Amino acid sequence: MFCPMSFDLVLFGGTGDLAWRKLMPALFQAFRHGSLPAGGRIIGVARDDLSDAQYRELIQSRFKAVEGAKRPSPEEFEKFADLLHYLRMDLSKPADYDRLAQTLQERDADTVVMYLATAPSLFTQTVERIAAAGLGGPKTRVVLEKPLGHDLASNRAINAAVGRVLKEEQVFRIDHYLGKPSVQNLFAMRFGNALFEPLWRREYIASIEITIAEDLGVEKRGAFYDQTGALRDMVQNHALQLLCAVAMEPPINAHADALRDEKLKVLRSLKAWTPESIGMHAVRGQYTAGTAYGERVQGYLQEPGIDPASRTETFVALRAEIANWRWAGVPFYIRTGKRLASRDARIEVNFKPTPHAIFRAPAGASANKLVINLQPKDGLELHLLAQAQNSRKRSGDGTQPLATVQLDLDFGQRFGTERVGAYERLLLDVIDGRLNLFVRSDEQEEAWRWVEPLIEAWQNDSGPRPYAAGTWGPSASSAMIARDGLAWSEEQ
Ligand code: BG6
Repeated sequence: MFCPMSFDLVLFGGTGDLAWRKLMPALFQAFRHGSLPAGGRIIGVARDDLSDAQYRELIQSRFKAVEGAKRPSPEEFEKFADLLHYLRMDLSKPADYDRLAQTLQERDADTVVMYLATAPSLFTQTVERIAAAGLGGPKTRVVLEKPLGHDLASNRAINAAVGRVLKEEQVFRIDHYLGKPSVQNLFAMRFGNALFEPLWRREYIASIEITIAEDLGVEKRGAFYDQTGALRDMVQNHALQLLCAVAMEPPINAHADALRDEKLKVLRSLKAWTPESIGMHAVRGQYTAGTAYGERVQGYLQEPGIDPASRTETFVALRAEIANWRWAGVPFYIRTGKRLASRDARIEVNFKPTPHAIFRAPAGASANKLVINLQPKDGLELHLLAQAQNSRKRSGDGTQPLATVQLDLDFGQRFGTERVGAYERLLLDVIDGRLNLFVRSDEQEEAWRWVEPLIEAWQNDSGPRPYAAGTWGPSASSAMIARDGLAWSEEQ
């Protein structure tokens, strides 16, 4: 593996929510694990007037909110703090980019990473100014956080502006779900093992269910979320990337473009929405007051920063189809939402029953099922039917009904819980120049193209359906899947 001798990581939005919630903890873990290349600098950039020392203090105080085991000791922080620097910038002022250029030139690191953890409305301008200040050369890599735009047109505009000043291989569009260890293992399971591949198709698979449920509400991000909603925040990116990982053809090798070419084909094969299919196969909801962690919680419209008349969805359930030879006719159910019954992300692959039954199956028992647990559990469950050989249940004709049992693989236990987290992995990949787990512009545009008819249709409908916080979303979501004679996993 190529490890650069030195790097400068410039964190635009260096005092913002993402920087202290995700990026700094991830950088610290990389530092603690000894995987952050030596000789690096992390330069926080924001408008606030801070010295390096004040910035270090700010970051240290934020670490108090990080969960215990991942929090640095004072000695560890002292060493980590040597990497931290601060530069005050007004991103609208070209002169400030010249000062940045000067700071970077003084050191002339092998790799310069510009991480744009700012509002997406600043992306185009910032990237153009970076280039105008002579900072767009081949050793620069730019990381763009999601959401990249709010529809297809704005996404294209950003990608086009970025493409005018940077080469595609310099652009790292982040989707942190691709960095999760559980998603790495999904690729490993599919393309490192021969076992499932022959069955991974319409002849053997009845349906696939992708759930990304959160128990949290919108927290302190109300103003952002109210402009965004679950479709743009979770479906256009995370859920569709998971769908690609499940449905893509085996790539010819593990290189970035081979993977991205196959994901793109899946997105292109998604059956386009029609007014009829939107009515039947797309449900959106908004949480009302209810419970979370055993306590009463307020509804979305009462959350800070939310327009009391907001029509923004906090829940989406969709039934998608992939129109290609492997998947024609197999429904893919996608569901995500805030303030649902639990934090739970998983993919369930439901296999068809045996073509001819010689055993009795228990009522309601599904046939074989592979559950890919993404979080909080991280592992695989294979559901099988077996003979319990329980003498009391023997029936008149001597046969016993089969019982459901499962093979359970817990990657956390198997590989240890100190595994590399998503942001840690992705930040190291950027520094090393590995693009495999980043999203190419054409993939992103295709995903926007697919969701756009939903955005348009939802502008003029009767609004999201209410669901109480702490439940699994509006009843219309269960009704949608019930029309196929199926039920969501927790209802089975
Ligand atoms: C982010 C969304 O991309 O993903 C958030 O903007 C969401 O709204 C988060 O909470 C979920 O990520 P994770 O890793 O906690 O499942």
